[in-house]
Amino acid sequence: MITTNTVENRVSLATQKFKEIFGSPPTFTASAPGRVNLIGEHTDYNDGYVFPVAIDKYLNLSARQRSDRSVVLHALDVNDSYKFDLDKPPSIEQAPAWSHYLIGVASLLQASGRKVSGIEAVITGDVPIGAGLSSSAALSVSAALTFLTTSPEDSSPENPPKLEIDNKELAALCQQVEHEFAGVKCGIMDQTISLLGREDQALFLDCRSLEHEHVPLNLGAHYIAICNTKVKRELAASEYNKRRAECERGVDILKQWLPDISSLRDILLTDFKKYEDELPALTQKRCRYVIEENTRVLDAVSALKMRHTQTAKKTDESFIQFGRLMNASHNGLRDDYEVSCAELDLLTDLARSIEGVIGSRMTGAGFGGCTVSIVHEDALETFRTRVMTEYCKQTGIEPEIYLCNVSGGAQVFWNKEAISGQQSAVSGQQREGYDESSTSSLMADSREPTAN
Ligand code: GLA
Repeated sequence: MITTNTVENRVSLATQKFKEIFGSPPTFTASAPGRVNLIGEHTDYNDGYVFPVAIDKYLNLSARQRSDRSVVLHALDVNDSYKFDLDKPPSIEQAPAWSHYLIGVASLLQASGRKVSGIEAVITGDVPIGAGLSSSAALSVSAALTFLTTSPEDSSPENPPKLEIDNKELAALCQQVEHEFAGVKCGIMDQTISLLGREDQALFLDCRSLEHEHVPLNLGAHYIAICNTKVKRELAASEYNKRRAECERGVDILKQWLPDISSLRDILLTDFKKYEDELPALTQKRCRYVIEENTRVLDAVSALKMRHTQTAKKTDESFIQFGRLMNASHNGLRDDYEVSCAELDLLTDLARSIEGVIGSRMTGAGFGGCTVSIVHEDALETFRTRVMTEYCKQTGIEPEIYLCNVSGGAQVFWNKEAISGQQSAVSGQQREGYDESSTSSLMADSREPTAN
């Protein structure tokens, strides 16, 4: 088990900061995790498959309702504050980048006809910012939960608000925030895993139907190690949108021969091979990668599931197969999709040179950010030393390594101290409705596909 920032710690830290700034306690803290994607990169906006986990790094928003229409925000980790009026939300050009997500969430909730109240809040967390671990999705999700929790007039710990929005709509709203307020035409993976993450389970998600399944990881003596290149993802937004457009272009061209397709998800590799030469060279590479990656996700999930049912030796073989698929995914991202960079390649090469590393790949949008590796406990020390020393030697940058617990999804923790004057009540309660057996979680059940 890896030592981790406990729920009590992170909620009480945000609560304490709120008290210092606003002079009395917040009503609740909305907490949403970052994610690491194990396999299935750049497939979500192509209607394909992904396999992420939520990590034990969270963005926490401690908040209290105001009687006026102002949203007063203190973002502790970037040492900045901002205030806006819900009735006259600023244009994003006038506001700091981090606040775009809150302006976006508030604006879209209001545009959907929901009543949104003024709030005061502190924002703090430990999801590394801009490192490809979905700090922005965690911010949007925690902001959406905050506005939804504060707005009903009679909400309290004893009477938590019934969600007027299901998880599916909530994920889509937060995705729309990225599209309209951050300029990234992202898919639905990050917001979904931040909402639906479960301890020790990965989420196998079909990004077309949103059908999903939680798959136990059973990592045994292995760890999920995330290495941060510390390279800022300058190109991420513009190149990301370009990749998306190239995939759409490929589909448009291939429709001449395959009229029934609506996305790359619909194309079998065998069919693609028949027509790939009709595509411009770059489009061909991009499409090939996505089509192959979708198959890799299906194979990786099957390999992991086999690990649960087979005998010890075969179990190891299926896990090794999982790692091979991770490696192949990285190679495709590097050579065909061209979203890796020298630093990501160096980290994966270093990881793969170590016996006991099952697989290693870049994760997230790319152009910097992080790699994810599966490392046997006996290899951990070598992994740490080699990665730290060699990466530093070759790039002059000191990387960061996080060993992550696979964690649960977003929650709201009520602060009883604020309501009843009790001391030491900061650990709060989980808001009802974020476990999938409850009625307020309407993301489709994995056994019952929903319509598109
Ligand atoms: C970013 C986007 C996701 C997904 C990944 C790449 O994280 O937000 O929707 O496309 O990149 O897999």
